[in-house]
Amino acid sequence: MAAPRNQAAWLTKADTPLEVGDAPLPTAGPGELVVKNAAVAINPLDWHMLDSGVFVQQWPAIFGCDIAGEVHEVGPDQKRFKRGDRVIGHTINLVSGRPQDGAFAKYVVVPADKAAILPKAISFTDGVVVPFALEAAVCALSLKVPGVAMPGVSTPALGLPYPSLQDPTPSTGKTIVVNGGSASTGSMVTQVATAAGVRVVAITGAHNFELSKQCGAAEVFDHKDSSVVEKVVDAVRKSGDEFVGIFDAVSIPPTYANDLAILEKLGGGHLACTHPPPADAPANVKGGMIFAVNDVTTPVWKEFVTPALEAGKIKCLPTPTIVGKGLEHVQEALQKSKAGVSATKLVVEL
Ligand SMILES: NC(=O)c1ccc[n+]([C@@H]2O[C@H](COP(=O)([O-])OP(=O)(O)OC[C@H]3O[C@@H](n4cnc5c(N)ncnc54)[C@H](OP(=O)(O)O)[C@@H]3O)[C@@H](O)[C@H]2O)c1
Repeated sequence: MAAPRNQAAWLTKADTPLEVGDAPLPTAGPGELVVKNAAVAINPLDWHMLDSGVFVQQWPAIFGCDIAGEVHEVGPDQKRFKRGDRVIGHTINLVSGRPQDGAFAKYVVVPADKAAILPKAISFTDGVVVPFALEAAVCALSLKVPGVAMPGVSTPALGLPYPSLQDPTPSTGKTIVVNGGSASTGSMVTQVATAAGVRVVAITGAHNFELSKQCGAAEVFDHKDSSVVEKVVDAVRKSGDEFVGIFDAVSIPPTYANDLAILEKLGGGHLACTHPPPADAPANVKGGMIFAVNDVTTPVWKEFVTPALEAGKIKCLPTPTIVGKGLEHVQEALQKSKAGVSATKLVVEL
């Protein structure tokens, strides 16, 4: 039988449109799967890579980090998966630089430790919203020791427990604030923290309160409300819980201003950011920037993701917006992501 033909959306030069063309068919080495993609999702990181070539290590490049599809080949040492399994996975071109590790292709290499079986009841286009956000959420919440996010910037180390399958989830007696609770990362941090027994007080746009509650937030406040800081502080104090700190999904000057005001009133704590933390944070604020590729997530991928999706403990939120079918739609999806989204993840079906 002839080998299947692979195709990819190639970036040949920064700030030029992706070109769909042939690509070598990857093979699965130790610790790897090759997946035939059925859907890929877009993250803000992707359009940064398109625009500036940041993080590209090999030209021409294939990037992208969220996939859902069927296992085509399993690496020699892999027992958890077999050909034909429906999976979701987080691809790691960001750290490896290898084109075969970039999601925007028909066939892609996925680390087996960053993949999980997708339950039959969940479509590929729903499931594909989970992987990168999940990796980011566990990196934000469960690292015990700070690592290096980028030169001079450490990762946060909140040391919170992994999410649990126990129902009801035992409480840790802790509360975290999630600023940007309707963002892809913010909604997954809300879900993962809730499943770890950490109470979430979230900040979103008023139109996204329901989404944040579906993710498990105990209370949600509007980022446009001029009293948002006081309301969040009140909600944390009323809980009587230990205050862990803030995960800021958005990490821009206006969200940092609210974060620092909340932290000041609550006596300091962690500030886990998706970008470098504010330089003017006082000493009682432990600021850090997440780096969403880390082995700390392995037990979650291996033991939690599939049963949690089956039980509805992790939901495929925010819901996808399908931009089109075929690799030629990735470029359009990247432009839409750059223009900004609210409470959705852009997805391309393949
Ligand atoms: N360092 C890392 O490893 C890492 C990993 C993943 C992502 N990131 C970065 O994290 C950022 C978020 O990524 P994402 O995929 O989660 O983004 P996203 O889903 O595209 O974020 C969109 C959301 O941002 C919210 N938002 C905008 N302004 C806000 C404000 N002032 N206050 C509260 N919420 C606000 C919007 O909420 P409303 O519509 O409700 O107003 C919207 O739902 C990006 O910059 C990305 O590059 C970094």
